[in-house]
Amino acid sequence: MSEAVKVEVGLGDRAYDILIGAGLLARSGEEIGRRLPGTRAAIVTDENVAAAHLDTLKAGLEKGGIQSAVITLPAGEKTKSFAHLEEVVDGVLAAKLERRDVVIALGGGVIGDLAGFASGIVRRGMNFVQVPTSLLAQVDSSVGGKTGINSARGKNLVGVFHQPRL
Ligand SMILES: NC(=O)c1ccc[n+]([C@@H]2O[C@H](COP(=O)([O-])OP(=O)(O)OC[C@H]3O[C@@H](n4cnc5c(N)ncnc54)[C@H](O)[C@@H]3O)[C@@H](O)[C@H]2O)c1
Repeated sequence: MSEAVKVEVGLGDRAYDILIGAGLLARSGEEIGRRLPGTRAAIVTDENVAAAHLDTLKAGLEKGGIQSAVITLPAGEKTKSFAHLEEVVDGVLAAKLERRDVVIALGGGVIGDLAGFASGIVRRGMNFVQVPTSLLAQVDSSVGGKTGINSARGKNLVGVFHQPRL
């Protein structure tokens, strides 16, 4: 396996790394554990992405000693809703995660926006890791810290800026 490319995002005390490379899911526990030692995780994903990548991510986290709860949601734009936000918030709290623990978004822009928003408000802001699985999420929605959901009055009208840690 080739080395990952590391892009350092210089944001002062919110600076973080973007890793680009093959086999990173299998190394997720090592990479997250190095940056956030002693952390536990909640993985937020959708049904399509879970079928393809969830087992690899979970195994990679466990290899690095990170236990994870999983919240799997329906795929699609309709998931960026208050109802599913509540489901994610409740899942994170039910897993008894603390602010220093991590919410991991495993999916496209829908999951990244929703999980990012949830991580920005649970316990007034938890650690957040983006694992973007669509091209749009990799080049656009996972970068810049914009998170949120849709309102009946329009798209992306409710959210927070919350930068990931990785
Ligand atoms: N936060 C931002 O700055 C920002 C920027 C641009 C877009 N967005 C948001 O991003 C969303 C669109 O993102 P998207 O196009 O990734 O949509 P998406 O998350 O709905 O993903 C599209 C489809 O691809 C599937 N999928 C994703 N990764 C996959 C994989 N590796 N294998 C198989 N299936 C996979 C998903 O299950 C889904 O069915 C919109 O809600 C948009 O508002 C946010």
